[in-house]
Amino acid sequence: MLEWIQHGGGPVVNLDKLTYAGNMNNLVSCRHDPRHIFIRGDINDLEFLESTFLKYRPKAVVHFAAETHVDRSILKPGQFISTNVDGTFHLLEAALKYWGRLPTQGQEVFRYIHVSTDEVYGSLGPAEPPFTELSRYSPNSPYAASKAASDHLVRSYHSTYGLPVITTNCSNNYGPFQFPEKLIPLMIVNALAGKPLPIYGDGKNIRDWLYVLDHCEAVRTVLAKGNPGETYNIGSSNERSNIDVVRMLCWLLDELRPNAAIGSYSSLITFVKDRPGHDRRYAIDSGKIQRELNWAPRETFETGLRKTVLWYLEHHSWIQDVQSGSYRDWIEHNYGDRGVSCGA
Ligand code: TYD
Repeated sequence: MLEWIQHGGGPVVNLDKLTYAGNMNNLVSCRHDPRHIFIRGDINDLEFLESTFLKYRPKAVVHFAAETHVDRSILKPGQFISTNVDGTFHLLEAALKYWGRLPTQGQEVFRYIHVSTDEVYGSLGPAEPPFTELSRYSPNSPYAASKAASDHLVRSYHSTYGLPVITTNCSNNYGPFQFPEKLIPLMIVNALAGKPLPIYGDGKNIRDWLYVLDHCEAVRTVLAKGNPGETYNIGSSNERSNIDVVRMLCWLLDELRPNAAIGSYSSLITFVKDRPGHDRRYAIDSGKIQRELNWAPRETFETGLRKTVLWYLEHHSWIQDVQSGSYRDWIEHNYGDRGVSCGA
């Protein structure tokens, strides 16, 4: 959204329920921009969605609304079904009703972009090639299963009703504004506070990292040039084991924010009980979007990670603001029974 406004995009209605990871402080840079209209609302409220469509008459929907954290989905899957499956269903219903009443030309240009994840494809063995758009769906966590279900629903609204949908499946995002429950921001904020850096299992699980602004540019590209009914995988070929990612973060922090009392931040690394059903490896083949839509990532993992660390170093009060009571409860809940104290 911020990236869209910065790149001179047209007016945006930003609909967000503002649950635990939502934060109005993330939107200060466009607070006075007349192109940005913020509405607090729930994608499970069909009446509200229908009236919002009629009021603003959008040319496209870009559906980012989701519960996204695997560990939370393991401890409490219900909210994932409600937001990711039911919510997608309601958004599709409202979009279809609105689209069905558009004049033919409006129907032709309308797009519904569904933003999803590579986790729907399951886990790769060490020698397997990266996921393509043709890989079999094989989700392992409740989160991944809820996204897989939503992908299928979206697909069916194209085949059955002709709604011009496009699905994108991206790899693990990282970068500014990421809520510190995901690996990279969690490790940065814990290191800065001198707390343990909890690595699940042996730390050799592999993720394929995508800088968030590269992802934003890919979504804009799909919106402008993607073909209805298609899916596009988005990734930037940055496969790294978790332990390597955390070591890189520690080296960056050693350089950018040395702390004599701690020595090297690597001394904070602590191996903890593994996540149940922990997918071993994700890797994404983004050849299709690169070839067909001419998108390519701009950041390497090294440049993106440095930018990310610098952003967190420069946004100390943002970090403090998001570490509210409910954040502390979550940290206690998730890490307490792993035998490590990351709490305040
Ligand atoms: P995460 O950021 O939760 O994303 P996802 O589960 O969607 O891939 O986790 C990324 C990897 O880091 C994953 O393999 C789990 C691991 N991890 C840890 O080792 N420790 C942690 O405290 C967290 C949050 C994740």
